Amino acid sequence: MGPKIAPSILSADFLHLEKDIEMLNANADIIHIDVMDGSLVPNISFGFSIIEPISPIAKIPMDAHLMVVHPERWFERLAGLGIDMCSFHLEAARKARLDASELLRQIKALGMKAGLAINPDIPVKSVYKYIKDADFILVMSVFAGFGGQKFIYETYDRVAALKEEIKRQGSDCLVQIDGGASPANAKNLYEAGVDIIVAGSAVFKSEDPGATIDAMRKF
Ligand code: DX5
Ligand code: ZN
Repeated sequence: MGPKIAPSILSADFLHLEKDIEMLNANADIIHIDVMDGSLVPNISFGFSIIEPISPIAKIPMDAHLMVVHPERWFERLAGLGIDMCSFHLEAARKARLDASELLRQIKALGMKAGLAINPDIPVKSVYKYIKDADFILVMSVFAGFGGQKFIYETYDRVAALKEEIKRQGSDCLVQIDGGASPANAKNLYEAGVDIIVAGSAVFKSEDPGATIDAMRKF
């Protein structure tokens, strides 16, 4: 069994989004939904006007990656739309002076899987104390904000260290990476300990997105 593949619709064709969601329903494991507020990260993506119409047609789990300063404002509404997985950044919790453990508990209380994300410049050790409260940790493999960036090589060591710590704690917390993933590095990522690979441009810029998704989990 390889990793689960979560294509990021940030790179989808927004004029024909229904077509892309149907393609993901048929080929992917998870739909990754990037929400950016232009404040935590230097870009704005989209919000509920895009998530709402996706919700009734998604047949596979939806994963909301919140790159916003106040993630806690949106948990309830996301749960109401049937979002299955919801992650926020440790940097956001720090900025908003909120306790990340408490936010993870709030997400879980709403019936969603709770994820804690960190950018590449945050020491991976910073998340160790949250492993017990998280269903997954998102180790960013590029700086959050844009699709199509180059994969940061140090991610392998960060993932391996995190996986080791998760085992040490006897936890079943999953590891997700996001950014610069493709069929070229999927196997190495899986072997380093990644359970869920997010991929935007590699999937949507591909001639055959279904085959690209498959190449990332079957090797
Ligand atoms: C970046 C987003 C990613 C992005 C990945 O901030 O969180 O999900 O869509 O895009 P690629 O796979 O093109 O690096
Ligand atoms: Zn993302």
